[in-house]
Amino acid sequence: MVRLGWYTAMGLLADRAARQAGYRPVSRPADRPVPDRDTVMADIIDLFRRDAELVRSGVAALGGEPAGGLRDHFGRLRAMLDDIPSTIERQTARRVDTASTSLDTSGLPNYFTQDFHFQTGGYLSDQSARLYDVQVETLFRGSAFAMRRQALAPIADFMRGRDQRDVRLLDVACGTGRFLREVRRAYPAMQLAGLDLSRPYLSEAELHLSNLRGVQWIEGNAEAVPLADASQDIVTSIYLFHELPPDVRRTVAAEIARLLKPGGLFVFIDSLQRGDRSGGWDGFLDGFPERFHEPYFRHYTIDDLDNAFTAAGLHAVATWPAFLSKVMVRRKQMNA
Ligand SMILES: C[S@@+](CC[C@H](N)C(=O)[O-])C[C@H]1O[C@@H](n2cnc3c(N)ncnc32)[C@H](O)[C@@H]1O
Repeated sequence: MVRLGWYTAMGLLADRAARQAGYRPVSRPADRPVPDRDTVMADIIDLFRRDAELVRSGVAALGGEPAGGLRDHFGRLRAMLDDIPSTIERQTARRVDTASTSLDTSGLPNYFTQDFHFQTGGYLSDQSARLYDVQVETLFRGSAFAMRRQALAPIADFMRGRDQRDVRLLDVACGTGRFLREVRRAYPAMQLAGLDLSRPYLSEAELHLSNLRGVQWIEGNAEAVPLADASQDIVTSIYLFHELPPDVRRTVAAEIARLLKPGGLFVFIDSLQRGDRSGGWDGFLDGFPERFHEPYFRHYTIDDLDNAFTAAGLHAVATWPAFLSKVMVRRKQMNA
């Protein structure tokens, strides 16, 4: 609950900074209602209760944030607020190409080199990597941490009767390593790897986990992961798929299936899709890409992911919502 209060306050400060920088919220059409503030707050509190239950049952570790200490945390928040005028300027001009014009993009796919969310430097600068987590937590009122940790529940089920020292887990598009840190805290001896296309984000991840047992960091594309077939027991991927073009989503799904051992576990977390929740939640999905540069989000919200994963050989085990996210648990067919 401290997180909720803290990041709600940060959200108010960020909104004020955005208004001062000239941001004018687009009014919502009447035919696209969203849940009211009380409903949203109740939903976040319910998510935090479920997260606390993971800690009580030993599935997730207690505490853990902010890993760099309070001074570092305040520095990041300050830098986030200072960066808002430049993101608003980019948003107002609908300009998304700074990453491709000012930073080295050689060898990177075009879809990746845009300023997702209008963030300064896209995924390609150290400053963007430093600000990403406080930006995301501010946007989601401190709930991103708990939404990600929902993935620990199916991992705990899978781990029953297994020795963690023999288990390999790969987090595809691990970003700044926030989820891998939670996996490492829950499983100190598991063999962990994190892959991402962004060198600055991987460096931030390395820093974030530097006081914990080592992780193999791989700078690479999720479309062609430099690891052997059937080498992983568990693959996770969190908040990647909504940033991929539709055909690339299918390539990455096939790649995940290739990497998993038969019977291996895939845990996916990403935004809700249309129709996942009744009661106006689709209204948020409509509004999101208007405020943040998310070129593939609209298609993502209607994409038949169930079919894409099944076609790749990843059969359905369970799906459930976690506030604005959904968790999908799949297993690779035994005879694949
Ligand atoms: C929205 S962030 C999510 C990061 C992290 N999983 C999290 O939970 O915060 C998307 C991440 O996907 C990475 N990414 C995007 N396209 C990729 C690709 N084709 N291969 C590998 N990483 C990619 C970006 O660099 C970024 O770190």
